[in-house]
Amino acid sequence: MSENNIVVVKDLEKKYKSGTHAVKGINFEVKKGEIFGMLGPNGAGKTTTLQMMGTLLNITNGKIKILEYDVESDSSNVRENIGFALQEAGLDSLSTVKELIAFHVKLFGFRGVEIDRRVEQSLSLLDLHQYSDQMIPELSGGTQRRLDLAVSLVHDPKLLILDEPTTGLDPAHRSDLWTLLKKLKTEKGITIVLSTHYMEEADVLCDRLAIIDSGEIVAMDTPQKLKKTIGKDRIEFKLFESLSEEQIIALKDEFGEENISANDSFFTVRVDDGEETLLDTLKIIIQMEIKVKGTKVLRPSLDDVYLKYTGKRLEELS
Ligand SMILES: Nc1ncnc2c1ncn2[C@@H]1O[C@H](COP(=O)(O)OP(=O)(O)OP(=O)(O)O)[C@@H](O)[C@H]1O
Ligand SMILES: [Mg+2]
Repeated sequence: MSENNIVVVKDLEKKYKSGTHAVKGINFEVKKGEIFGMLGPNGAGKTTTLQMMGTLLNITNGKIKILEYDVESDSSNVRENIGFALQEAGLDSLSTVKELIAFHVKLFGFRGVEIDRRVEQSLSLLDLHQYSDQMIPELSGGTQRRLDLAVSLVHDPKLLILDEPTTGLDPAHRSDLWTLLKKLKTEKGITIVLSTHYMEEADVLCDRLAIIDSGEIVAMDTPQKLKKTIGKDRIEFKLFESLSEEQIIALKDEFGEENISANDSFFTVRVDDGEETLLDTLKIIIQMEIKVKGTKVLRPSLDDVYLKYTGKRLEELS
């Protein structure tokens, strides 16, 4: 294992007693300081994989190493080094924010002034000071998710495992949480593995992504590189009037037949880098005396990537 790998997953399989083959021999590595995302539909095997990483579920076949520790034979060392926030928030306690954090600090065996120090650190890191004496059921969903994170971070874990950390949050709270997770990564050097249903979350938050479908990883790379596999950018030109036959021929001559598609109200030109070539392309089109009403650069999205590798559109939860 390279020193930089915090997680190594090798030929990992899970068969439930019911016979469901939830994870079918997956392989991946997560480097120190990365935010690694697992994107996939319901039943893909995300939670199953994360729970095996978190020592909460037995492995059927294969291996997981976290910071050199084998998840099966060295599970207590693994647990000391990871924080885990489950898919369903587990906070229906009748205590205040501060009390709950203190309770978890004590669970990890800290005593005396160390308890207050850790509670204080946790309230600051997650920006929870203003809620410290509030009862948990009174908190908004977004604040409860922050508290969930606070609790999973009390022992300064090196790896944070998050199962759908932003499901059920509104867009504003969701992007607040992204900011927070990026802060944990950059300021605390924490490595994060998370699952998500949200394309945007995968795109803006994750350094690398595994697209998982029916227990298998069907694609894995940075969001940018995954999008590149879809093909070129397209520049769309809106028209005042439809193109003439001559204009279409001229366009195909200039840009290549395979790169032009046209209908009555607009046409598109396929190019390698839409933003970079927009102005030059527009100049050529104006020289052809084509009257353009507007332009738009269309880049391949993760949605397109997902469709390519799974044959499905991802139904996003909201
Ligand atoms: N405890 C269990 N016993 C039997 N089968 C299970 C159990 N937990 C999950 N499964 C099955 O394993 C498969 C993978 O489920 P898993 O929960 O890992 O998917 P997921 O990707 O997390 O889905 P979701 O997006 O809905 O959270 C599904 O077919 C599911 O029905
Ligand atoms: Mg799940």
